[in-house]
Amino acid sequence: MRVIVISGGTDGMGRATLEARIRRGDEVVAIGSNPAKGRAVRALSGRVHFLRADLRSVAQTRRVIDTIRGRWPRVDALALFANRQSPRRVVTDEGLEQTFALYYLSRYLLSHGLRDQLDAAERPVIVNVAGVGTTRGSIHWDDLQLTRKYGMVDAQLQAGRANDLLGVDFAQRSGSRARYVLYHPGFTRSGDLSTMPPVVRGVIRAASVVARPVEKSIRPVVEWIDDPPADALTASDRGRPVPLSATTLDPAAARRLGTVTDALLTRLHAG
Ligand SMILES: NC(=O)c1ccc[n+]([C@@H]2O[C@H](COP(=O)([O-])OP(=O)(O)OC[C@H]3O[C@@H](n4cnc5c(N)ncnc54)[C@H](OP(=O)(O)O)[C@@H]3O)[C@@H](O)[C@H]2O)c1
Repeated sequence: MRVIVISGGTDGMGRATLEARIRRGDEVVAIGSNPAKGRAVRALSGRVHFLRADLRSVAQTRRVIDTIRGRWPRVDALALFANRQSPRRVVTDEGLEQTFALYYLSRYLLSHGLRDQLDAAERPVIVNVAGVGTTRGSIHWDDLQLTRKYGMVDAQLQAGRANDLLGVDFAQRSGSRARYVLYHPGFTRSGDLSTMPPVVRGVIRAASVVARPVEKSIRPVVEWIDDPPADALTASDRGRPVPLSATTLDPAAARRLGTVTDALLTRLHAG
């Protein structure tokens, strides 16, 4: 039985991926923050496990990684979906802007923290579902926590670009056998809009008639888990390959962000 870990496996595309993998006979470990959603996915099958964690918290993310390491010596696939929009700038107890912490940092920790478990699998793969191929947004190197100027879209785009670089850095530096796949699902009929202002929510709901069905968006993710790509790094925007020479996948920027992230995590650990 294959073991699949899904961050954000309790809703939207993560949950649909969980359901597809359960149908294929896998054991799935879903991470989410809402216990009711956790109970709902656990009720689907005895092969679903729910680990509750607020992935905005480095401490809770580390705890959930330790739990997985203790209970599952082998992880065949890690699929990263957890994200939430934040209209206002919110700072976590650990002093991090929450979009950066949830959408980027938790994925960094899970990717590197489950390395040994992934390397114990025959054909391990990590699929990071974000926005590769998008060139909008940038890394605010001098203000990663967006203290000076915050905007919801800007925070999402920065974390998206950071995930692009995470994939590049993981592939070039980790030494892991796990194939890394960066995937942009496109505008999809999923997403918890509860944190959005009512007007924005209304606009997105109205536009969702043209959004892609969840089942279509997750199909490649389900397939990569069955059959990981041969290359160390793959980038796909709605099925179209994104060339690894893209400016958003710059190896030097990836190395720089990896170094900055390690230093940040060391500082948090020391504090
Ligand atoms: N939907 C789109 O149009 C679209 C387009 C491009 C890219 N994407 C990307 O695709 C990914 C999945 O999107 P989606 O639409 O499927 O999202 P979604 O339906 O809103 O699901 C988000 C998942 O993340 C979990 N989550 C949120 N905050 C969390 C926290 N603090 N700690 C732990 N888990 C947390 C949620 O579980 P809990 O509620 O239990 O916390 C839920 O399982 C995201 O990275 C998104 O940026 C989506």
